[in-house]
Amino acid sequence: MEKIIDENKQGESLILEQKKENTRKLFIESYGCAMNFSDSEIVASILTNQGFNTTQNLEEADLVLVNTCSIRDKAEQTVRKRLEKYNAVKRDRNPKMKVGVLGCMAERLKTKFLEEEKIVDLVVGPDAYKDLPNLLAEVDEGRDAINVILSKEETYGDISPVRLNSNGVTAFVSITRGCDNMCTFCVVPFTRGRERSRNPQSIIEEVNDLWNRGYKEITLLGQNVDSYLWYGGGLKKDFVKASDIQKATAVNFSNLLELCAKAQPKMRIRFSTSNPQDLTLDVVETMAKYNNICNHIHLPVQSGSNRILKEMNRLHTREEYIALIDKIREIIPNCAISQDMIVGFPTETENDHKDTVSLMNHVKYHFGYMFTYSERPGTMAERKLEDDIPETVKKKRLAEIVELQQKHSGIKTREQLNTIVEVLIEKESKKSDTHWSGRTPQNTVTVFPKEHYNIGDFVNVKTTNCTTATLIGEAIGYSENN
Ligand code: SAH
Ligand code: F3S
Repeated sequence: MEKIIDENKQGESLILEQKKENTRKLFIESYGCAMNFSDSEIVASILTNQGFNTTQNLEEADLVLVNTCSIRDKAEQTVRKRLEKYNAVKRDRNPKMKVGVLGCMAERLKTKFLEEEKIVDLVVGPDAYKDLPNLLAEVDEGRDAINVILSKEETYGDISPVRLNSNGVTAFVSITRGCDNMCTFCVVPFTRGRERSRNPQSIIEEVNDLWNRGYKEITLLGQNVDSYLWYGGGLKKDFVKASDIQKATAVNFSNLLELCAKAQPKMRIRFSTSNPQDLTLDVVETMAKYNNICNHIHLPVQSGSNRILKEMNRLHTREEYIALIDKIREIIPNCAISQDMIVGFPTETENDHKDTVSLMNHVKYHFGYMFTYSERPGTMAERKLEDDIPETVKKKRLAEIVELQQKHSGIKTREQLNTIVEVLIEKESKKSDTHWSGRTPQNTVTVFPKEHYNIGDFVNVKTTNCTTATLIGEAIGYSENN
């Protein structure tokens, strides 16, 4: 292991030396899910080796890359607006600037992008980032360039990400790519392709490297982390054909969590996202076994109605979901649970909506992300169902569950009042430069006076006050983790 770290260090100093000679400037920004932000760090790493340094200033950029999201129509509109902004900067102040579109919109729209948006020179899908050097050579010669080929193997496990806009404390580590679930509303299986898992050894090496560089918390990332399965590479569905040795040495998500927790016993470990149909109890048991795995599960359910769950091709019922939550709470009583919900899916009736409300009342999530249904071209829902719920009804249902969630978040936050919580300090509080802001293992934001503590410290905080989603308190000392 020593040797690998040494080699990594050598690799690192090599990159730093190359950086000195880097002259071209890259402006890169990301929209959408955490996976996009993580992918941009891979792209920055690839381009560092191509003579680029990152810049925050559009006006001096030689290359502008926007990592895009297709999950809802609104996300795509946001990107279109950004392209207008780049257009204006290019026209008025930076004519040499080239513009590339990365990620899910690139994959969804392909050559259409080059036709529709004259400003775009480069279109690169989520599995084609290693081809960027060749594509940029094309662009340098004045031609538009595109690669949107999806892969069954690419995991970028061999690329050490350049951490962008980092607080130096928390980092994302990607463990799977793609999704095989085919929820009928979701564009991800089309834009990110088949599900693949990354070699666990490269994951552990990244976790060790992050710890050695001062990071204190990682989030293992995947569209569907619980279906992680490594047996030497390849698609999960081909596991049936794996050899006996491959089967005996296969690593599933619970094994991977354990490997990470043991590799760095003081590193906080989070993961996202879990799909209820794939979350197994051995994962929950592993969480219970290791103190450094945070007691929080993001467990999107999308709807509380069995009929709608079926239409969505979510492969569990409301009752199975509730049984899973009960089991989680039995094994980890203080486990925070959060949700994603969609209101206004085609054919959703008032009664279906009431089922969502009653499910929320039963579970009382710590927090959640709630959306109105947005029809996505090419998905099964778009092909088979009419988007028949009026926008006003969607908005009314959304407002209702957002308000309910706020009520529940308030309850869950207040439950932690007058207790001692462990906080990892991430940054200065937005509201006060004399306070730190960090999170508890349950993911509750906590602010407290700075005193002599520093970013990256694990601190025990006595909570004295709160808002709906934020705890306020005073530090009473370093936690034993420090
Ligand atoms: N497994 C993924 C989920 C991706 S999408 C993950 O890792 O986060 C994130 C959330 O967006 C989903 O859980 C769903 O609630 C929402 N979403 C996806 N497609 C949508 C659509 N067509 N309209 C509205 N919301 C959508
Ligand atoms: Fe999308 Fe369902 Fe996969 S929400 S990312 S198809 S688990």
